[in-house]
Amino acid sequence: MSDHVRIVEVGPRDGLQNEKAQVATADKIALIDRLTATGLQSIEATSFVSPKWVPQLADAAEVFTGIQRKPGVHYPVLVPNEKGYLRAREVGVEEIAVFSAASEAFNRKNINASIDESLARFAPVMAMAREDGVRVRGYVSTVLGCPYQGEVPLADVVRVARELHAMGCYEVSLGDTIGTGTPGKARAMLAAVAAEVPMQSLAVHFHDTWGQALANILACLEIGVRVVDSSVAGAGGCPYARGASGNVASEDVVYMLHGMGMTTGIDLAELAATGRWLAGLLGRETGSRAGKALAVS
Ligand code: HMG
Ligand code: MG
Repeated sequence: MSDHVRIVEVGPRDGLQNEKAQVATADKIALIDRLTATGLQSIEATSFVSPKWVPQLADAAEVFTGIQRKPGVHYPVLVPNEKGYLRAREVGVEEIAVFSAASEAFNRKNINASIDESLARFAPVMAMAREDGVRVRGYVSTVLGCPYQGEVPLADVVRVARELHAMGCYEVSLGDTIGTGTPGKARAMLAAVAAEVPMQSLAVHFHDTWGQALANILACLEIGVRVVDSSVAGAGGCPYARGASGNVASEDVVYMLHGMGMTTGIDLAELAATGRWLAGLLGRETGSRAGKALAVS
């Protein structure tokens, strides 16, 4: 099994979508450019969602056109519908991410649609993307618990992941939106999905609300996942998931992976410095333990 793990850095999107403070467009651009310089292969840049729903990312087009795109690095953006796709294409986006959930209640709050309605909404987006040669990633949220519904049946997670993959998503990211998962459950969930979608097409996306994210990632690495979503400085959270907090910090994931002898291609010191810079911008300490430790070592 490969020892290389691809980190999908979601800080500029998941990290900033839930911030109370307004982050300047120029700072968002600087953040993405600094992340590019760390050696990351995938950086989720922003969201072309409704600005009424997520005003923090209303400047998506300006951000995307302002960044220096490095050849070989992917800069996916979130797209909820055809309107978002057309806005994204207008500025030359080459990879998008569509998103649904395993819980009806959460999906309704997040994108004002049932699961089946959301999948139907993605069909024309997928068709346009195929035509345009745009890569599509898919997200399934609430894979280990829902803030409104509580328990989420595994069969529902498997179904939505299978449908997104069958629709043409090259990768499906499994999101523990509110971070309630624990390692045994995370492993069982991934194993159940991997029975229907190839493991090479799966990623894991853990929020660290309950402090379980690194342990959950390790449990998933042990059964073969090699793509991990994380957020520099541990920023993040979905505004439509009550109680959700930051993603697992990218610095902590990279520190763990390198310590295990795995490769990421990422310069940890640069990443940690970027995390501390971002935290300064947001007026707080970095949410990354490795980022703090590196500052004093
Ligand atoms: P709606 O209100 O049902 O949409 O929202 P609508 O089609 O009725 O449109 C309402 C208005 O929005 C219209 O404008 C549309 O033109 C406009 P008006 O006529 O009132 O002036 N509109 C748009 N404008 C710009 N871009 C668009 C767009 N679409 C409609 N793309 C909608 C439905 C899906 C649009 C809305 O619910 C939405 O944008 N939701 C996004 C919520 C969100 O971004 N959540 C966070 C991301 S998901 C997440 O964080 C989880 C993840 O990290 C994984 C995990 O952790 O689990 C991925
Ligand atoms: Mg998330």
